[in-house]
Amino acid sequence: MFITFEGQEGAGKSTQIALLYNYLLARDANVVLTRDPGGTEIAEKIREIVKDVQNAAMSKRAEALLYIAARAQLVEEVIMPQLTGGGIVLCDRFADSTMAYQGFGNGLDVDDLGTIGSFATSGLVPDITFYLRIDAKEGLARKLAQDKLDRIEQKDISYHMDVGLGYEYLAKTQPRRIIVIDGALPQDEVHQLITKHIENLMN
Ligand code: TMP
Repeated sequence: MFITFEGQEGAGKSTQIALLYNYLLARDANVVLTRDPGGTEIAEKIREIVKDVQNAAMSKRAEALLYIAARAQLVEEVIMPQLTGGGIVLCDRFADSTMAYQGFGNGLDVDDLGTIGSFATSGLVPDITFYLRIDAKEGLARKLAQDKLDRIEQKDISYHMDVGLGYEYLAKTQPRRIIVIDGALPQDEVHQLITKHIENLMN
């Protein structure tokens, strides 16, 4: 089973994915936790490049291709072997992020992104995606309270609002795969909603 988490900055994805990972480990599941971009040596290097505030001059197309390249490496090195072995993969972000950020945020053609994206992943689609919905301003404020903002987080609020519209569009058009969860709810409530869905799926 391939499970992904999506959402805007500060939605609580990383916390929730870690909670679900521990929940599955406690049930002796064969589970791998990874993140996109990242999760392999090469993809972590690409992650540094795309997040680096020094790279303000990065073109929109170069940015999209870097995210997609990182994903190709992650799929081949980590995700596919684990799925082929019958295990579970939990991935912090995946191709929906490219649609939301590079497609809706940066205005690149979503059909092009879909074509290049599925070339990179050999057409792999998550079985279930938890989209943690958060107001863009609120999420960024949460992020800022924790750390300095990276190159993407530093973009202006209208960009982040467009990314949010992208996620809403994806959730509306793929309601069977994408489960929308209110990221403003308390952490333990969000975790319980997620585990309920996972248990239903497993049964
Ligand atoms: P995060 O995983 O710590 O949230 O950081 C990843 C950043 O990269 C985040 O700002 C979203 C952005 N991103 C894209 O713009 N496109 C993508 O395809 C992916 C996977 C992430």
